Amino acid sequence: MKVITVLGARPQFIKAAPLSEALRQDHEEKIIHTGQHYDYQMSDVFFEELGIPKPDYFLGVGSKHHGAQTGEMLTGVEEVLLQEKPDWVLVFGDTNSTLAGALAAAKLHIPIAHVEAGLRSYNRQMPEEVNRVLTDHLAALLFCPTDQAVQNLAREGLRQGVVRTGDVMADALYYHARRAAERRLDDLAPYQEKSYLLATVHRAENTDDPSRLAGIIKAFARIDSRIVLPLHPRTKKLLGDHKISIPENVQVIDPVGYLEMILLEKGAELILTDSGGVQKEAYLWRVPCVTMRDETEWVETVQTGWNTLAGAETERIVKAVEQYRRNPLPPYPENLYGSGRASAEIVAALEQKRR
Ligand code: UD1
Ligand code: UDP
Repeated sequence: MKVITVLGARPQFIKAAPLSEALRQDHEEKIIHTGQHYDYQMSDVFFEELGIPKPDYFLGVGSKHHGAQTGEMLTGVEEVLLQEKPDWVLVFGDTNSTLAGALAAAKLHIPIAHVEAGLRSYNRQMPEEVNRVLTDHLAALLFCPTDQAVQNLAREGLRQGVVRTGDVMADALYYHARRAAERRLDDLAPYQEKSYLLATVHRAENTDDPSRLAGIIKAFARIDSRIVLPLHPRTKKLLGDHKISIPENVQVIDPVGYLEMILLEKGAELILTDSGGVQKEAYLWRVPCVTMRDETEWVETVQTGWNTLAGAETERIVKAVEQYRRNPLPPYPENLYGSGRASAEIVAALEQKRR
């Protein structure tokens, strides 16, 4: 079986790492890197740290408006698919690289496997929602990380090819947890477990809107703790454009590699984020999470009390942090995202479908 994997953005490298390893045991995989993310700390570091095979094709598309970026990727992926004629095209999540990979494959009648299928925010203003809905409706195999994702697809009439596998991000975390624990966070002196909060912000809806970004940063200033903020390049640029300054208690650092990131998560008293992946990782580490969005795709973290949706309003964010500090943590719901075998199950489903 020959599989072409299309990657482009940071979370996709992390999702691909365990799956690529499982796939290559018995099958041929070639990787296309669209170049959506290109800084060393947003791309290369993950290939090096996680042992992801070097991409066979690098499209070098870079940052552009959605249409131009997706269009250039579509052209580039199509050329590769015409040459390689794979049995499957594998795409992950909900970025522009995901949609471009799926669309290129669909036009050439090559079956698509979508990892992290069925997630919905029901907010079509998000570019990710558009990407994931379209990709799901093009896919022949839809690998769902949660029961909720399976139900979301059923509501849209998608039942064929739907497989509940658990989440490859949980595979990655379980697999790399021990390696991460051996790391030292010397750059973060004074580093002491539970002495800081960890924050990430990068969503378009939060960074492009100056009032939302200012609301979040004001909330950080109101929280009486050190907040470590590995800063996404998008946010760095927009903080400058909107002339928003960073409060004294916020320690801005460059984006970090995966092993450092999961160690930072594990050691945090609480996590503040608008990232999809980081919300799940907070739960996996049993660290409470305040999500600075109006909705989440990872509803089970909220339903079980381990995550609170706080939007981008200063007061709500501060209050959500205080609530966690004041009250005991809820009982821990085991295995929301599987037991670390999602990659193996995905490979088995690909093999079975092909027979
Ligand atoms: C993208 C995804 C988002 C995902 C995120 C993961 C889309 C529509 N969005 O958002 O779903 O959560 O990746 O991190 O696909 N930049 C750099 N260096 C880089 C990459 C980006 O400086 O290596 C800056 C550029 O100014 C660029 C901006 O970040 O314009 C946004 O990058 P882009 O890939 O368009 O979207 P993300 O916000 O990263
Ligand atoms: N991450 C990382 N370094 C960072 C910030 C995040 O390795 O500086 C990891 C994080 O642990 C998670 C993934 O990147 O595995 C999440 O990606 P991101 O927040 O960029 O995107 P999203 O999940 O929201 O699409």
